[in-house]
Amino acid sequence: MNTRKLVVVSAGLSQPSSTRLLADRLTEATRPALAAHGVEAEVEVVELREHAHDLANNLLTGVPTGGLGAAIDTLAGADGLIAVTPVFNASYSGLFKLFFDVLDPDSLTGMPVLTAATGGTPRHSLALEHALRPMFAYLRAVVVPTAVYAASPDWGSSGTGGGELATRIDRAAEELAALMVARVRRDTGPAEPTPFEQLLAESQGHA
Ligand SMILES: Cc1cc2nc3c(=O)[nH]c(=O)nc-3n(C[C@H](O)[C@H](O)[C@H](O)COP(=O)(O)O)c2cc1C
Repeated sequence: MNTRKLVVVSAGLSQPSSTRLLADRLTEATRPALAAHGVEAEVEVVELREHAHDLANNLLTGVPTGGLGAAIDTLAGADGLIAVTPVFNASYSGLFKLFFDVLDPDSLTGMPVLTAATGGTPRHSLALEHALRPMFAYLRAVVVPTAVYAASPDWGSSGTGGGELATRIDRAAEELAALMVARVRRDTGPAEPTPFEQLLAESQGHA
């Protein structure tokens, strides 16, 4: 079976975190969506709260200390990204933005990205469209059409979510999987050119 590396970035602060819960739901929906294309997901999760101090240091010194360097490298080798933030003051959280601020600006070029957010109020769902989508467009990522927002009422009394939220999760996961399957891996690169001597020999029937 083919594999694709899926990196999940979660910027939740609480423990347990509704942002991480949404990230996990999206991941678990993306696995079967990839499997439907004959592709197995290799999943790596980056919990940004674990890198909060290193992110602040990186901004001041330019050096990714602790586990931050590995987290950044993980993303650079990804075939797809699920990026989930809590909504703070009607936008992405500062921690979420900080991580993308310290990345090499070319590291997300062409990468399929599913954006998602959690919030206290359903009225702030458009933060996904006016904050996250433009940021990833600037970084030349390919953002899937369906963004997923979960406000407190969406989780329901069971705390697991369902209904319209579940439908959006499945739709977004299918969009991400289709883009990940279609994407040509950057580390594959163009094929090595055939040496001129070999081309000449072949044209003269000496190969
Ligand atoms: C500083 C701060 C600002 C917030 N601003 C908003 C907001 O503007 N809109 C909103 O819907 N929720 C807002 N919230 C609520 C969080 O988005 C919500 O609780 C989120 O799901 C928490 O995610 P977590 O459980 O992963 O930490 C805010 C919370 C904090 C702490």
